Amino acid sequence: MSDDWENARTRTNTPLFSAGGPDLKQFDEASGSARRASESVSAPRTVIGIGNKGLSYISLPDYSEAKIVVAMVGLPARGKSYLSNKLMRYLEWLEYNVKVFNVGQLRRKRAKMQAEQSGVKADHTATYFSHDNDAAMKLRDSLAEDCLDMLIEWLKKGGNVGIHDATNSTESRRAKIEARLAKEKGLVLIFLESVCDDPAVIAANIALKVSSGDPDYKDMSREDAERDFLNRIRQYEEVYQTITEPHLSYIRITNVGSQVTLCRIHGYLQSRIAFYLMNLHVKPRSIFFSRHGESVFNLQGKIGGDSSLSPRGKQYAEALPALVTKNIGNAPLTVWTSTLQRTIETAQALPFTKLTWKALDELDAGVCDGMTYEEIEAAYPEDFANRDDDKFNYRYRGGESYRDVVVRLEPVIMELERQENILIIGHQAILRCLYAYFHHRPQADLPYIKIPLHTVIKLTPKAYGCDEERYTVPIAAVNTHRPKPNVSGAEHEVPVPSSARQYYST
Ligand code: SIN
Repeated sequence: MSDDWENARTRTNTPLFSAGGPDLKQFDEASGSARRASESVSAPRTVIGIGNKGLSYISLPDYSEAKIVVAMVGLPARGKSYLSNKLMRYLEWLEYNVKVFNVGQLRRKRAKMQAEQSGVKADHTATYFSHDNDAAMKLRDSLAEDCLDMLIEWLKKGGNVGIHDATNSTESRRAKIEARLAKEKGLVLIFLESVCDDPAVIAANIALKVSSGDPDYKDMSREDAERDFLNRIRQYEEVYQTITEPHLSYIRITNVGSQVTLCRIHGYLQSRIAFYLMNLHVKPRSIFFSRHGESVFNLQGKIGGDSSLSPRGKQYAEALPALVTKNIGNAPLTVWTSTLQRTIETAQALPFTKLTWKALDELDAGVCDGMTYEEIEAAYPEDFANRDDDKFNYRYRGGESYRDVVVRLEPVIMELERQENILIIGHQAILRCLYAYFHHRPQADLPYIKIPLHTVIKLTPKAYGCDEERYTVPIAAVNTHRPKPNVSGAEHEVPVPSSARQYYST
């Protein structure tokens, strides 16, 4: 088949409940046990630190035994692609190799190639999707089968979770998928049905489909496109069978966030997938990120520690309540901080419920904690170079790497998916990791994402990804960003996503 598609934790004595008063709650027992659990599935990770020349002996988690096909089920405009992409992002965060195989995309790609060769454009209006259209039915079945074959080939070459993003809306189609997988050894099949009867969500999905430049509707007016897409949905509705086959493994999600039905879900990864999906919701909400105000250590150029805010950092903490309140209005908001003084002091004046998370403490710089970069370079030159070579994997001796931080943030991610409006007052490395999850940024770029001091970043989850706005508070602060040196010595910056809007707060 030739188609191919495509800064540092201190050993603090700060008691978890004391610094912010009695309303501070601690959220970390769960994170500790989840971290231990996730570490138990990985091969032991090598300590990469000072003096090591190469990073060749980093042991990545061994997921070679995990081979799962997630076959989507659902009518058009029911959020199947949304769920597929969310699941992919989460599992990739956990370092599984995941790929979505979308049958609609394969259909369009082949139709384009055919039109280029023959000059004849295929008719993919609603009639193509009618169950009375025998010729089209055969073509559609064969496209779905080819797409599944590609997925299986990819799993055999090292993939872990392949998502078959298609309607798979009848028992007979699902039986074909089951029969095909029965021919393969070691592949687990789970169906994931998305049922949605909320007219507002369906209407929003339809509007997105017809206004997003979908090639199916390229040459149609918006009205004609909407009419045709509604007609296509009706064709599917006539034959649609919700999944009830008792022998199949399936997860049925009704109105994302309302109801989840599980049938025959066994095993570690399958349960983890189900748990993640159970925590998702699509209620409108925003996630705000702010680093702590400038700290005394920031001023001194030192990493780590548990210093208090500088005078300018205190001014930022005083300015923050007005900025946040103006933005959120009367909507509920919860503030999460780490257990370190600088985040707790920054959050102090905010008139919202506050929770502290040990899991949000800054990346642990081990023996380098409390040193300046110049001191580290002088004391451990090789180490300094190793960090520039592969900052994501580099682990401070006695401390952590970005990769370690990603593992410990998994319970935070899960809780962020479950919650509504949240403001995290955090640290540079931690916010880089969380930001990378929401914007689906690659590991290599993650340690270079710009998260400046005295700036609030607002992420608003949308159907595909997040909208971003940045609010810079006009209080000067040191720049703690070290750009990525590239091979020629020039500096490489990770750009803010193009959809991001920048604001200056007055
Ligand atoms: C499509 O061709 O757009 C979807 C095919 C399907 O899964 O029914």
